[in-house]
Amino acid sequence: KKDTIILGIETSCDETAASVVKNGRDTLSNVVASQIESHKRFGGVVPEIASRHHVEQITMVLEEAVQQAEVTWDDIDAIAVTEGPGLVGALLVGVNAAKALAFAKNKPLIGVHHIAGHVYANRLENEFEFPLLALIVSGGHTELVLMKNHYSFELIGETRDDAAGEAYDKVARMLKLPYPGGPEIDRLSAEGEATIDFPRAWLEEGSYDFSFSGLKSAVINKLHNAQQRGETLEPADIASSFQQSVIDVLTEKTYRAAQEYQVEQVIVAGGVAANKGLRESLKDRFRGDKADLYIPPIHLCTDNAAMIAAAGTILYEEEKFTALDLNANPSLML
Ligand code: KG4
Ligand code: ZN
Repeated sequence: KKDTIILGIETSCDETAASVVKNGRDTLSNVVASQIESHKRFGGVVPEIASRHHVEQITMVLEEAVQQAEVTWDDIDAIAVTEGPGLVGALLVGVNAAKALAFAKNKPLIGVHHIAGHVYANRLENEFEFPLLALIVSGGHTELVLMKNHYSFELIGETRDDAAGEAYDKVARMLKLPYPGGPEIDRLSAEGEATIDFPRAWLEEGSYDFSFSGLKSAVINKLHNAQQRGETLEPADIASSFQQSVIDVLTEKTYRAAQEYQVEQVIVAGGVAANKGLRESLKDRFRGDKADLYIPPIHLCTDNAAMIAAAGTILYEEEKFTALDLNANPSLML
């Protein structure tokens, strides 16, 4: 059987990315132009700035991805693009580039869900075994997804308020750490101790949902009360205690879901999967368990286009193409 070569495009947030992937597993190129530096001084992603940067970067990023992959347009079977969820103006840049290329080069177009991409990032390094449980933890998502087959996603738990990464970014801001806050808190945690007992939102018995807004408020209150009493709190201890609270809930709910659904494999995806504490805690919890835990390397945890090409490969094989009137959908469901 001939190889399947897919060009992936991702512009849902603050990375302009393009990648060429062979057979859904072999990364031929993976180009990511990050805008983090431009958003840093605003303390978060500014949608309008993100869109403008995507427009400036997309052509160059696409050219580089094709060049580095050492393929010709003839070799490329289809173009896969993130259609949602994400920032609408940012998504539109990728969607329009993909549509223009699909039309000009006469290739099928494939719309991909961003979270499906995060899940499939794992397959670039490690073949899936079903049933599979995916913990998706990013700036916009905190979800537990059960997969019994390729590209079939059953949502078994999700956040009721803030996403895990969002909680990290907000707490980092309270501690006056630069954006993005996740890596900063992760680094600071290692220097402190989890001496403060922040709440852990277990929710109802048996629920796999998450909630981080109570924890965020607890951190605010702690800082506020200390300030009023003239006490000094060690930022590293706050970071460490906050991180421990997040990690405990993510690890335990993932473990319980893996037991209940008797999965063969557990994978972790999204930017927060880069968190050292979370990686360690999951490894400890699943040591000796029947389910294989797999956590991808950090460059595959954060936004990239190889993951979109990898997910798009399955849709290509199933001939699930998208019409050229594809639109960006900022609140696309999985
Ligand atoms: O998946 P991603 O790159 O973009 C989204 O789709 O949201 O995730 C970005 C999020 C940010 O909230 C960032 O603070 C968080 O992932 N993050 C981390 C770490 N690295 C990135 N959170 C905790 N620890 C980290 N090491
Ligand atoms: Zn993402």
